[in-house]
Amino acid sequence: MSNRRIVLASRPVGAPTLDNFRLEEAPVPTASRDGEFVVKLQYLSVDPYMRGRMSDSKKSYAPPQPLNEVMTGGAIGQIIESRNPKFKEGDFVQGQFGWQQYALSDGTADGARKVDPNVAPLSAYLGILGMPGLTAYFGLLDVCDPKPGETVLVSGAAGAVGSYVGQIAKIKGCRTIGIAGSDDKVDHLRNDLGYDAAYNYKTVTDHNSKLKELAPDGIDVYFDNVGGVITDAAILNLRVHARVAICGQISQYNNEKPEMGPRLLGMLIVTRSRIQGLLVMDYAARFGEGVRQMAQWLNEGKLTYRECFEDGIENAPKAFLSMLQGGNTGKQLVRL
Ligand SMILES: NC(=O)c1ccc[n+]([C@@H]2O[C@H](COP(=O)([O-])OP(=O)(O)OC[C@H]3O[C@@H](n4cnc5c(N)ncnc54)[C@H](OP(=O)(O)O)[C@@H]3O)[C@@H](O)[C@H]2O)c1
Repeated sequence: MSNRRIVLASRPVGAPTLDNFRLEEAPVPTASRDGEFVVKLQYLSVDPYMRGRMSDSKKSYAPPQPLNEVMTGGAIGQIIESRNPKFKEGDFVQGQFGWQQYALSDGTADGARKVDPNVAPLSAYLGILGMPGLTAYFGLLDVCDPKPGETVLVSGAAGAVGSYVGQIAKIKGCRTIGIAGSDDKVDHLRNDLGYDAAYNYKTVTDHNSKLKELAPDGIDVYFDNVGGVITDAAILNLRVHARVAICGQISQYNNEKPEMGPRLLGMLIVTRSRIQGLLVMDYAARFGEGVRQMAQWLNEGKLTYRECFEDGIENAPKAFLSMLQGGNTGKQLVRL
């Protein structure tokens, strides 16, 4: 038996490619010290933040992914050996276990948490009940404070975070507008996720006019997953006292130099709006609250979710690159 794993082989210049990764084999780890346990992983998450970690940037909130080491990433699986009384053999556990088949944990450094497969399927703990779901929950409710009747605009609306944000905004009685990168995704936003309006950003050149058409009275809340020209247009359409959460800037992640956009900060004076960056880990102490509420909405049928799977550890890089290019609707995962 071996532990097949994906390491970072080189740092990308511009868009990452399959050559930036390498598949390796190592011995399956064993729990040789008290407190350790071994997890046989069943699902891996691929997320946009990993693109940032692949670069050697000093301007990140987290250190770069070291070369030739297992790619960082959330994962979930079952404990097959344990010397830790809090994590028993047979328990299901999630944590920052990386892109590999087996992980050795001490129960703390990787943020290991037990999960209950009776509440939701295991994979949901990497999506709607995991980091992306918590990002949507705290980002929308805490940073943006949406009120009933307000208009909420979401970019990256058909991906993991965006698909949850739109639904939570509807639960809160808001009018929702979603932006995504294909006609199929736009149909999904309207028909499955309850968005009141949606458009395909790849077939629209004048985002300002499009937003004026869809939100003639302006936007109260903008949940930004993408940045770039879409965000420039959103800022031009804010209402007085609007709130903007900068969750992600995926349109910029492959840029070697920052892109300069129109300088629209004056609009914040005109509208007395607030723009705030958000980092889900800042809410770690409240994750229990977020998971409980999301699970309740899920069980009440107020939330729905989609997942996309690639099978096999060897396909983790492919799943990651596909997600960066919009191949996913909902949460992109790797099934082992
Ligand atoms: N701040 C935090 O704590 C935090 C936590 C989690 C995620 N995030 C951020 O939230 C955003 C969404 O993350 P996620 O995990 O839910 O990923 P995701 O939305 O499931 O997947 C990424 C999506 O980005 C879209 N995209 C790619 N290039 C784009 C471009 N140039 N312009 C516009 N859209 C583009 C693609 O959809 P299309 O087909 O629509 O292009 C793709 O499906 C990312 O920016 C991520 O970095 C932030």
